[in-house]
Amino acid sequence: MSIITNESTMEDHIKKLEIEKNSQILDFGCGEGKYSILFAKLLGNKGKLFALDESESKLEELRKKIIQNGLEKRIHIIHTDGELKIPLKNVIIDYALLYNVACCIHGKENQDDLVRIVRDVFRITKDSGKLIINVLGKTMEKRIDAAVPLIQDYFILKEKESKKFFLDNNRARYRFFYYFLKKSENKV
Ligand SMILES: C[S@@+](CC[C@H](N)C(=O)[O-])C[C@H]1O[C@@H](n2cnc3c(N)ncnc32)[C@H](O)[C@@H]1O
Repeated sequence: MSIITNESTMEDHIKKLEIEKNSQILDFGCGEGKYSILFAKLLGNKGKLFALDESESKLEELRKKIIQNGLEKRIHIIHTDGELKIPLKNVIIDYALLYNVACCIHGKENQDDLVRIVRDVFRITKDSGKLIINVLGKTMEKRIDAAVPLIQDYFILKEKESKKFFLDNNRARYRFFYYFLKKSENKV
């Protein structure tokens, strides 16, 4: 079943973030990079988006999009073996995105996997760093709600937003955004 018109939802969401041009962004589980491309377009020459995924075939699609959009200098691809440790230095990231990926990590094994990633995101983010988790559907909402108390050892939930959109049979679906701010080190 295809999904009709949620692009405006995502564009509104990305606009709202007011990304600064020299930001450093991690897109964990970027897939074919639909969002990597949108975010990288907002960056300037000093900004960087790290697009990380375990799927070589999806990253190959992203490589094509990067060339088509002339974003070679702004997007750095990281191909992993699916390990929950992020191969980046400490304290360099302004925004860590977990977009439509919590479902895979979370469902694949257990809630601990999501929290392990969040713990490593804590290591690589700047003190002003933000974590944004975006999930589709109410089942995923419940799962993330259940994980929030564990995530809050590292990042504090500042806002939760839900956006409604419609499938082609006119049924409503919901996309949920969780906006977290990094917890200061001395509180952990
Ligand atoms: C549903 S797709 C979402 C892709 C993209 N974020 C989007 O919203 O269009 C989930 C992606 O997460 C990746 N993924 C899942 N677990 C992963 C892990 N442990 N390490 C790296 N990538 C992972 C999958 O390969 C897949 O490309």
